Order: sequence, then C-alpha cells, then structure tokens
Amino acid sequence: MELKEQVQEAAAWIRTRDARAFDLAIVLGTGLGALADEIGEARVIPYDEIPHFPASTVKFHAGRLVLGELEGKTLLAMQGRFHGYEGYPMRQITLPIRVMRALGIQRLILTNAAGGIRPELTPGSIGLIRDHINLMGTNPLIGPYDPELGVRFPDMSEPYSAVLRGLARRIAAEQGVTVHDTIFGAVIGPAFETEAEIRMLQILGVDTVGMSVVPETLVARQLGMEVLALTAVTDQSLPGAMVSVSHEAVNHVAAELGPRFRALLRAIIRTI
Ligand code: HPA
Repeated sequence: MELKEQVQEAAAWIRTRDARAFDLAIVLGTGLGALADEIGEARVIPYDEIPHFPASTVKFHAGRLVLGELEGKTLLAMQGRFHGYEGYPMRQITLPIRVMRALGIQRLILTNAAGGIRPELTPGSIGLIRDHINLMGTNPLIGPYDPELGVRFPDMSEPYSAVLRGLARRIAAEQGVTVHDTIFGAVIGPAFETEAEIRMLQILGVDTVGMSVVPETLVARQLGMEVLALTAVTDQSLPGAMVSVSHEAVNHVAAELGPRFRALLRAIIRTI
C-alpha cells in the first residue's frame, strides 16, 4: 500500500476514536514521557492498535498516543517514538508525523535525550535546537514522489521555527531556566559514539548528538509544519574525558530533569 494511503487510513482510524480538533502535537522522547500523564480528558491509544504504525521496541518508551487537553490546548502527544536503529524504514518511522498533518496539525514540538559534546552542555542542561546536521546516512524523504506527500525538494533554510524558538527562549528566561542554543547532530545508532567520532562531531560544529528528531523534522518541514525541538542533555562526552554512557543512565538523567523540562514545556504549550 502506498504511503499516502497508509497515512489516510491511520488518520481516519484515529478520528473514529477522537474527533477533536488538535492545536498541536508533541513527541516525548526517552525519559520525558511523564508529561503525557498530565494530559486531561485523555484518550490513550497504543501504537500497535493504529493501522500501519510500527510497534515501539525501546525500553523507557511507552509506545502510545495520548490525546487530550493541557494548558488550554487540545494536543496529540506521542509517548515514545520510533527510531532508525529499531530497523524500521525511515518512511515508516515518520508516518506519525504525516498522520498528525492529515489530522490538521500545523505545529509540532519535538523532545529528545541527547549527549552534550561541549563543556557547557553538562548532563541535566536543556538544549534548544537551532539547526541540525543529518549524519544518519539516510533520509525519510527518499522514495517515490507524490505531490500529496509535500514538495520533492523541501527548503531547509529554517528547519526550526525562529518564531517558536524566540517564544521558547522568552518563556525559559521568565522561568529562570537556562536553555542553550544548539546544533544537533543526528546519528543512526544504536551504539553511542567513540572518542574519535566525538572529535569529528565537534569539528563539524555539532553541540549535541542523538538518534532521533531529524527524520521527524525533515518530514514535518516537507509538509510545511512549524517545528520546535527541545533537548534534555543526559550525558556528556568530551575527548580526553570520555565516560561510559548507558541507556539506563540516559533515562535516569532525563527523568531527573523531568520536572524542570515539563514546566518549560507546559508554559510553551500555554503560550504557543
Ligand atoms: N549519543 C547519542 N545518542 C544519545 C546520547 C549520546 O551520547 N545520549 C542520549 N542519546
């Protein structure tokens, strides 16, 4: 079945469960899923019930849609996401973004856990992604072209909305929370980086490195959606001071940062 038909079927199926009009969507990354539990009037749909959605295979990712109300907005939250390293094709990983657009959603907040590779990006700090470098060696927009999927050659001069970034910075300042402007480097994973790879990433101008966000941003931009992306820096790797990183540690730091991160997200959702 063609991608656009999968998108239509999934969107139509979700509408049968929840006919509300959504103001925005949010993707909650590793260790950051707790925000979905604060959503009111919630309708919860496990991914494996939705036609054409892959099943989430990552520990610490709940793997469900939570539809409901938060801070006066009606939102669609993904509690857990799909990654390239799970073995799904990039087009499948990003299907939910296309489904969001088919449901009429224009604005997308992405969150993720990532490693800091600059001295100031210590575990527990928050990054605001200004731009990215796609080092995944693939792209979710590869494949047969159909105008209904968006433009063939999407513009990437402003992948992350300057307006939304300004708003996030202003709200963070009001809350006394420091957010770091970051260039995010996306790698395919699932192995964490070697010291030589960290050195390479630094030379390339990367500030934070992770295994998600970029495929979703590429698809969202192809569809003309506005994207805001916030990172929980969960570990730090610096050449000469490499420490061992684990998924457990990443999840632990993200969860610890959680209350501060959630307060920022809620204020952004209220204001957006
Ligand atoms: N590297 C890649 N992905 C990550 C990291 C990291 O250090 N931390 C969390 N996700």
